Amino acid sequence: MNNTNFTINKITLNKSSVDIIWNDNHTSHFHFLWLRDNCPTSFHQDTRMRKFNILNVSKDIHPIDWKITGNGNLHISWSENNHISIFDSNWLRDNCYTRIKNKTNLAPYILWDSSFKKKLNLLTIEYQEIIDSDEGLKKWLEALNSYGLTIIKNTPIEKNSALKILKRISHIRETFFGTPFEVINIPKPNNQAYTSDALTSHTDLPYYEYTPGYQFLHCLENKAKGGESTVIDGFRVASDLKNNDMAAFNLLLKIPIMFKDNDYTQDKTRHHYSPIINLSNLGDFIEIRFNMGAMGALNIKHNLMKKYYDAYRIFADLVHKKKYLLSFKLKKGDILSFNNRRILHGRTSFDPNSGHRHLQGYYLDKDEIISRLNYLRGIIE
Ligand code: OGA
Ligand code: ZN
Repeated sequence: MNNTNFTINKITLNKSSVDIIWNDNHTSHFHFLWLRDNCPTSFHQDTRMRKFNILNVSKDIHPIDWKITGNGNLHISWSENNHISIFDSNWLRDNCYTRIKNKTNLAPYILWDSSFKKKLNLLTIEYQEIIDSDEGLKKWLEALNSYGLTIIKNTPIEKNSALKILKRISHIRETFFGTPFEVINIPKPNNQAYTSDALTSHTDLPYYEYTPGYQFLHCLENKAKGGESTVIDGFRVASDLKNNDMAAFNLLLKIPIMFKDNDYTQDKTRHHYSPIINLSNLGDFIEIRFNMGAMGALNIKHNLMKKYYDAYRIFADLVHKKKYLLSFKLKKGDILSFNNRRILHGRTSFDPNSGHRHLQGYYLDKDEIISRLNYLRGIIE
């Protein structure tokens, strides 16, 4: 973005496009309608939303005059409504679509496995650094975006104190667990997380259509024996599965299964059908949903049941394999932050009689992380 080194050398008119030859010899083809639609006057100056209605011009609109202005910008007089457009040359170059870049993710995901343990410094960041500067915040979000996982160190350990850092990003995603949710063992628990049992690798809330994108587990105290955290990169596992067992991969990709929550405190019955592995329409990994505790009874075709269970077991085995797993014990003041639609997390069991363990949990939607990162990268349109 922000191309300031390019200038327009020449403008020619084609049948349906204005062709610009730049000083580096790159040629851009801008369709007439595209130009008219994106005329700077089309946008409200405050909302920055388009007020121009495409139906107010015909399909045949075309330039009747075109030139380079004294400032090097593109000036067009249109065949309809006596309209004139002046396009900033930097904006045109930034938005040139002649060589389409595949804008699939903000940054390519960096997939990892357990060998990443040697590079945990890439994932750790000091609380104060994020609070003090936008550079610190950006560094954190870049790491979250690329690796899907970070650990913030030395957060204050007063209750709810993680809110301050999360508000640096945006508003919280509420769920029926409340904000924050208290990860402690309680009598008559309404979720496995609220026991002292081990939690197998899982993603949270797979029974929501729009599953919260990011999860934050703020450790206030961790004195109990056990209770080690585990994390694995679900995209890495899915990617290896794709390379090694296409048939299993395809079953997990194609067959929707039901995830559910109907705990005893709820006056709601939550069902959502989704495959375990989900790709974007550009073929990128977009989401893993895996949670043995929250999976409904499988109701897929009987002749697929065996094959499906085989594939499911393969995946379940992979997401607990040492080859992929990072494990560590959270210290008080740590915030384990991760992409809940990519990273699977879990914990070993702990002995509640040996000491207190208390995490506070929060969620944030993926859109909030990505849009904040866009902004911090200087992308404002
Ligand atoms: C959770 C969870 C892990 C832990 O609350 O969603 O998985 O370490 N907790 O207690
Ligand atoms: Zn969880």
